[in-house]
Amino acid sequence: MRPMEAVNIFFLGKGGVGKSTSSALTALSLARRGDDVLLVSLDPAHNQADIFESRFSDKPRRVAPHLEVVEIDQERWIEKYLKGVHEEINRNYRYLTAFNLEKHFEVMRYSPGLEEYALILAFEETRKRYPDHRYMVWDMAPTALSLKFFNLPGLSLVWINQLLALRKEIIAKRELITKVRLLDREVETDKVLRRLERSVEEYTALARLFQDSARTRIELVLNPDRLSLAESRRIVTELRRIGIRLHQVVVNKVWDGASLEDLKQEFRGLPMVTVPQSETQLIGLDVLVAYLDDKGLDFHEA
Ligand SMILES: Nc1ncnc2c1ncn2[C@@H]1O[C@H](COP(=O)(O)OP(=O)(O)O)[C@@H](O)[C@H]1O
Ligand SMILES: [Mg+2]
Repeated sequence: MRPMEAVNIFFLGKGGVGKSTSSALTALSLARRGDDVLLVSLDPAHNQADIFESRFSDKPRRVAPHLEVVEIDQERWIEKYLKGVHEEINRNYRYLTAFNLEKHFEVMRYSPGLEEYALILAFEETRKRYPDHRYMVWDMAPTALSLKFFNLPGLSLVWINQLLALRKEIIAKRELITKVRLLDREVETDKVLRRLERSVEEYTALARLFQDSARTRIELVLNPDRLSLAESRRIVTELRRIGIRLHQVVVNKVWDGASLEDLKQEFRGLPMVTVPQSETQLIGLDVLVAYLDDKGLDFHEA
């Protein structure tokens, strides 16, 4: 039997609301039920190291039974992404080497969009490299970058489909003019076409993954205050535009006597987990475990 594909759980929300803490608590509570969990820090701030009082890298490190942690080094993945593009151009678009490619790459290093492409690459590679976990819990980057991350497949598809149409037009025209003379070049044209078609397949699969509630759960973390609610609204609107729905709302740092009525009204129809404000710092495995038990927290019923 084919192993079941992992469920990806993403935490989104304003800085400081408790995404990293909620990721850690969720990962831990799932692992304690006996499911294998990989907690992946995609945020360059890498709070998981502080939360678990440990050092992490791109190799999974076990912090508790069934729970391993990985840290994604964004800079390294940016380098990796650039290198991949470089190699591909050298391999498939040889006739372009007449131009000054190196200069082009220096510009590309600073181009907008690079971070989210690197993040998507890291996401895909991490999934491929560690396919044996039931859950992959993703501690996300700041809101703006995270939204670009989820938007990337759809946006790329718009671009690539345009390029595909253009490419097909070029090929058609070329065939009208001469069929024989450009034999060499035609092989390369086909390569370009095939590469574009492969990209369409990859991004389509990714867009489907993000929209598939059986494999993707988006958790919105917020506090019972107006600022985090305002940012949450923007996140919800943006996700809806992309066709991604929220799975659950995590109201964190709920102090005694805080009113949740407005939040319940705002997010009616969605499951809501409330996490009380802790008097002690939520740092260290023992503290987290005790907190889960003490408050009877269960992040995932199903
Ligand atoms: N329920 C809670 N009770 C008390 N402190 C919390 C709680 N959740 C988070 N914190 C603290 O708030 C700060 C921000 O939390 P963190 O998880 O790093 O947020 P984010 O990842 O969203 O920036 C940290 O110091 C963390 O220990
Ligand atoms: Mg964080």
